[in-house]
Amino acid sequence: MKKLIIGNFKMNTTPSEFKSYAMTFVTKVKSSKNDIVLCVPYTHLSVAKELFDKSNVDFGAQNISEEEKGALTGEISASMIKDLGATYTIIGHSERRTKFKESDKSINKKIKTALANGLKVLLCVGENLQTRTNKQACQFVKKQLDDDLKGIYENELESVIISYEPIWAVGTGKIATNGDIKKMAETIRKEIAYLYSEKASQKATILYGGSVNINNYKKILQLENVNGALIGGACLDVDNFSVIAREKF
Ligand code: 13P
Repeated sequence: MKKLIIGNFKMNTTPSEFKSYAMTFVTKVKSSKNDIVLCVPYTHLSVAKELFDKSNVDFGAQNISEEEKGALTGEISASMIKDLGATYTIIGHSERRTKFKESDKSINKKIKTALANGLKVLLCVGENLQTRTNKQACQFVKKQLDDDLKGIYENELESVIISYEPIWAVGTGKIATNGDIKKMAETIRKEIAYLYSEKASQKATILYGGSVNINNYKKILQLENVNGALIGGACLDVDNFSVIAREKF
């Protein structure tokens, strides 16, 4: 069954470095049956548009402003990235939540703005180590979903992909156990059923992210309820990431 494989470049590479990456990447993954997305810095979007147009690779940004336009120096709006051909944006990445103090209220507003502009949303949720140690991870993620999805209609949910990214596993080389990933994916699906319907829950796309790499991706992607992966560090190596993106699951 095909999977959704997403690379998050974070703040890495220059546009010229990305151009040579993208040229190699499209060739390497052209026969892949998976859905492939690269989320790149804003400065790379026009390169992505040029090189991924007419390819099987979609692309997106890593954040948007919660506002449509206005006096917000340094901000980038949903319509700006949409105009550059982006089809996705990450919203609520743990680095934005922790380092830039983004609240669930702001994340909720960003999701609404993205959807209103025809973008698909990669909503990231996940607990920190203390919450996991206190055995409150499931409860914490359920609350994030409740707050982040407030006022989002069931028919819009098709455009919202949920990525479980435990904060302690992001960029650390530590990975959640298969049991923990399975349990959280199941918890997310149950919460979608509670908030919307069983149908919406079955249709939901749920990803795992956090230290996924060439050595561990197969095990993670075969877990029940996991529809794909959001990959940070390991997507920067074009050869390894192409192998993951081409895999037959
Ligand atoms: P790493 O794969 O580097 O742990 O990052 C995961 C991530 O944050 C993807 O958005």
